[in-house]
Amino acid sequence: MTTFDVPARVREGAITPISDLDRYREVCARAVHDPDAFWLDVAHQRLAWRKAPTVGLDGSFRTIKDGPLSWFSDGVLNVSESCLDQHLDARGDKVAILWEGDEPGDVRRLTYRELHAEVCKTANALAKLGLQKGERAIIYMGMVPEAAIAMLACARLGAIHSVVFGGFSADALRDRIRDCGAEIVITQDVGLRGGRHIPLKATTDEACAGSPSIQKVLVYKRTDVEVAWTEGRDVWWHEVVDGESPTHEAVPVEAEHPLFVLYTSGSTGRPKGLVHTAGGYLAYTSYTHATVFDLREDDVYACMADVGWITGHSYIVYGPLANGATTFMFESVPTYPDAGRYWDMVARHGVTIFYTAPTAIRALAALGDEHVKKHDRSTLRVLGTVGEPINPEAWRWYYDVVGEGRCNIVDTWWQTETGGVAISPIAPATPTKPGSATLPMPGIFPSLRTPEGDVLRGPAEGLLCLDHPWPGQARTVWGDHERFVSTYFAMVPGAYFTGDGCRRDADGYYWITGRVDDVINVSGHRMGTAEFESAIVSVEEVAEAAVVGFPHPIKGQGVYAYVVAQPRSEIDPKALDAACRAQIGAHAKIDRVQVVPGLPKTRSGKVMRRILRKIAEGRADELGDVSTLADPGVVDAIRDGYRAE
Ligand code: WT7
Repeated sequence: MTTFDVPARVREGAITPISDLDRYREVCARAVHDPDAFWLDVAHQRLAWRKAPTVGLDGSFRTIKDGPLSWFSDGVLNVSESCLDQHLDARGDKVAILWEGDEPGDVRRLTYRELHAEVCKTANALAKLGLQKGERAIIYMGMVPEAAIAMLACARLGAIHSVVFGGFSADALRDRIRDCGAEIVITQDVGLRGGRHIPLKATTDEACAGSPSIQKVLVYKRTDVEVAWTEGRDVWWHEVVDGESPTHEAVPVEAEHPLFVLYTSGSTGRPKGLVHTAGGYLAYTSYTHATVFDLREDDVYACMADVGWITGHSYIVYGPLANGATTFMFESVPTYPDAGRYWDMVARHGVTIFYTAPTAIRALAALGDEHVKKHDRSTLRVLGTVGEPINPEAWRWYYDVVGEGRCNIVDTWWQTETGGVAISPIAPATPTKPGSATLPMPGIFPSLRTPEGDVLRGPAEGLLCLDHPWPGQARTVWGDHERFVSTYFAMVPGAYFTGDGCRRDADGYYWITGRVDDVINVSGHRMGTAEFESAIVSVEEVAEAAVVGFPHPIKGQGVYAYVVAQPRSEIDPKALDAACRAQIGAHAKIDRVQVVPGLPKTRSGKVMRRILRKIAEGRADELGDVSTLADPGVVDAIRDGYRAE
């Protein structure tokens, strides 16, 4: 039996729940006064350390160009012990993962004891397949408990996982395999979503064809569908995992050991592999999960995200399990078999905390209240939203119709980079305003700035920066620290730039206005316009392309493509879509295509996206000065060709 290192402060219970605004202010004051002491308390209280840390932060945003900063550098732990072993005595028989499959009522329940055994078996199997501390494993799966088990098994070995969302194409998967140099892919035969099959194994085969680093492919069998098999490389999950021992001696790692790499889109170039590390990430996700949602022992907590995105990592797997919560995993989609699916599950499982994205809320609101009202939602207490700005109408529908006017709404602003929630109401404490993410978490210090980096005081609108490090933030970009620095710390030396615009009102409340860079957010999926453009220009008939976002009533943003044809060529929009699907994935759909004679460029050849954005938004009357363009006539042609739909 492993014994954990428990500092005296933990027994004193330094961190207590935040139940009102005064207490929130008190905790914030502590975090301002001594951030190291504050976060060390959090880390000690929430995690099971082999060696508890005595050091808080090392480094700063000013010195980040010299190398990643660190938190809890002398601490030693294993993340899976904090998520599993830590709970075995008090919560061994409590449900850890409550899963519902594609078909309603197809349910699995894994207690903490069972989950611990499955993770140990899988860790033993992965070790035999050759996976070692520090090596990378790609997880390309649907929403099955085995996806979480695979993540935790990697963590148990000190291996680094990189989960790739099951919607990504073979090209995108191959890029990620190559970038992180993975030797193993963990996948399944097919994924099930809304009655359809997602060919995960076939896509893996295609991606591995160009990936010499891959030695093994571990395949979980979800269905009876037959899949192609490469002898010597492919291994069935049930054949190697089921017979393994249900115990495994976890590999202790330093707090700053990488836990995972998660790829995310930026304004330029290929997606970046953001690196999150064991101690700081787990302390931060555990703390924010418990605090924001006002987590209680008997909660049935249900986050509808996919483990392929950061929300699934932080608030389906790591935060909730570190907290000993019952966490729900959902394989299907909100409209299968009908638009009442979420609320049917809330009723059948007695869900108390429910967390989803504005795009789902808007889509469901449009399908009518009766789908909600016919299911009992009396167990709900907290309703969360994440991924994009929520418009006040959708907020009110969530509050009034879903929550019957009695639940706390938490509009949680954060990013893959922040690791966990950074600006959000704390369910029982923070008075809300529909559409505002309200106030920062304790220990988070936002600032609004001009493009020159000057700080704006009081009520203002500007670029959202975070001025002081926090334990949950990404440490670097895998294999490219320079890119990490130039992406996030070049614009404002000494502060982290989020890429979002934001307004602060007279009460100090934050209202996120959306991305100010060339990242678009479609149905809560973050995509770079550069990725679309590179897919579109690969189509033979295309000479040039520029992609921008435009407001979309359900998806938040839609994808608007301006395309210049090669001489004497015709553009077929289907070919453009096919290219995006092949190079990015099934979730990368173009909403509108406009064939234009040319793109508006400056005399130095830079595309003026500001102009293209305005036209796509239907605000061509606000173009402002276009006199610096090489050929101002192009703008008239684009404007004339625009048709509002
Ligand atoms: C971007 C990060 C955080 C998990 C899911 C997305 C936007 C996120 C909110 C919110 C307004 C939001 C931002 C951010 N965003 N939450 N509550 N209100 N905007 O993670 O894929 O890294 O995207 O999502 O623009 O920068 P991500």
